[in-house]
Amino acid sequence: MTHRPSHRSTPRRAAGGANQPRTARRPTAPPEGKRPLKTLERVLSKAGLGSRTEARRWIHAGRVKVNGQAVENPDAWVDMERDRVTVDGKPLRVSERIYILLYKPTGYITTYKDPDGRPTVYDLTTAISTFISPVGRLDLDTSGLLIMTNDTQLAERITNPSSHVPKTYLVKSSRVLTDAQLQQLRDGIELSDGPTRPAVVTRLRDSGKYTHFEITITEGRNRQVRRMVEALEAVVLKLVRVQIGRIRIDTLPIGTWRPLTEAEIASLSA
Ligand code: URA
Repeated sequence: MTHRPSHRSTPRRAAGGANQPRTARRPTAPPEGKRPLKTLERVLSKAGLGSRTEARRWIHAGRVKVNGQAVENPDAWVDMERDRVTVDGKPLRVSERIYILLYKPTGYITTYKDPDGRPTVYDLTTAISTFISPVGRLDLDTSGLLIMTNDTQLAERITNPSSHVPKTYLVKSSRVLTDAQLQQLRDGIELSDGPTRPAVVTRLRDSGKYTHFEITITEGRNRQVRRMVEALEAVVLKLVRVQIGRIRIDTLPIGTWRPLTEAEIASLSA
């Protein structure tokens, strides 16, 4: 699940209404946090509607509304993820879609803010000014592939339990697992939230006291791989997600990100 920052740039108000002022007062200083805030003037020019001078003219003329209320201050802060901006009653074009692949290191959380002040995946993506959200999550102690996007429809499709997008992990278990135990992982393990779906499991090697194996699951339950291994009375010592659908980690350095290619984006929608 995606954690959203709780504050808004302005309180959300219903559109219209007899007691509403004709124009809304919006703050001219941005509130704290990392919300995707832009001035109204910039939002309009970025949407490709015209120059900033033209945008100011429309705003002053009362042709621009935010959440149903005319806003005549070009420097008012607008949250493009949440505020609805219209010009002459027509909604602005949705902002450009961004899709990235981040190689999350361990020690980073996938939520927006951490009450304990731990680093988050947003600390690794500061160059991206648009607000993007992780698609699903990875545990603090798990590293590997994380898709982040502002395409909420695609994100919901991937994380929907019925989508069955395969995700592949490399696992190091705290003890050597027998063939029968690996077969249990393949066939399905009874967890507290029900049996797991069939998985593809390949033993990579046993080294001393440990088994290294690869597992592909088609669900995204909370701590699923760790719980499956715990059901075999072992513990996951290392967990790395190396593939989501057809998207592989390949040579992406840890802690860095790259944009998804068109083909990769299309493969997620297929
Ligand atoms: N399974 C887990 O146990 N943890 C993750 O982070 C991902 C899959």
